[in-house]
Amino acid sequence: MTLRAATADDLAAIMALERASFPTDAWSEAMMREELASPHGWYVVDDEAGRLVGYAGLRTVKNAKDADVQTITIAEAARGRGRGRAMLRALLDEASRREVSDVFLEVRADNPVAQALYVSEGFLEIGRKPRYYQPDDVDAVVMKLDLRGWAARDADGPEPRWDGGVCT
Ligand SMILES: CC(C)(COP(=O)(O)OP(=O)(O)OC[C@H]1O[C@@H](n2cnc3c(N)ncnc32)[C@H](O)[C@@H]1OP(=O)(O)O)[C@@H](O)C(=O)NCCC(=O)NCCS
Repeated sequence: MTLRAATADDLAAIMALERASFPTDAWSEAMMREELASPHGWYVVDDEAGRLVGYAGLRTVKNAKDADVQTITIAEAARGRGRGRAMLRALLDEASRREVSDVFLEVRADNPVAQALYVSEGFLEIGRKPRYYQPDDVDAVVMKLDLRGWAARDADGPEPRWDGGVCT
């Protein structure tokens, strides 16, 4: 597993994973290109010997105290081995470096795997958006993480922290 910051050159591989992972509500290539180029965005990819097996994105407006987890995906064949958690932690480490206080996200109510990951990092449900995901008519669960609490907890744990460089 090698985590590195995403570049515009990753767009095609990210889109292939996006379409495979979110068959009914994938973002368009134009949206993803904008995300990668945005000064408010920060994306990380999991690059396995030149093959992209995951990506995740954070949105933080400069000097804002809030951030959002925009998306997170691991290729189906590579799931269940800690890579999703590693990418989520990379996003949260970046948010900490940017001195964010709270991190928000939305997750489909019918996605217990992603919810379990978020809850295990300390995210709490703070509300629901009924029928948010269309065309599937599925509610969004809105979650929030107290990032300072997370960082304090993480600093005490055995996991190595990612400093924003290449991490293998
Ligand atoms: C959600 C996703 C990114 C998790 O990545 P992953 O690499 O498979 O997850 P990890 O191996 O890091 O596991 C992290 C935690 O997720 C949960 N989890 C992972 N696989 C699970 C499964 N099959 N069943 C239940 N919980 C599971 C567990 O809480 C796990 O922690 P644990 O290993 O301590 O039990 C991945 O499943 C994925 O890409 N799914 C499709 C896209 C998606 O739904 N993205 C989220 C959009 S909000």
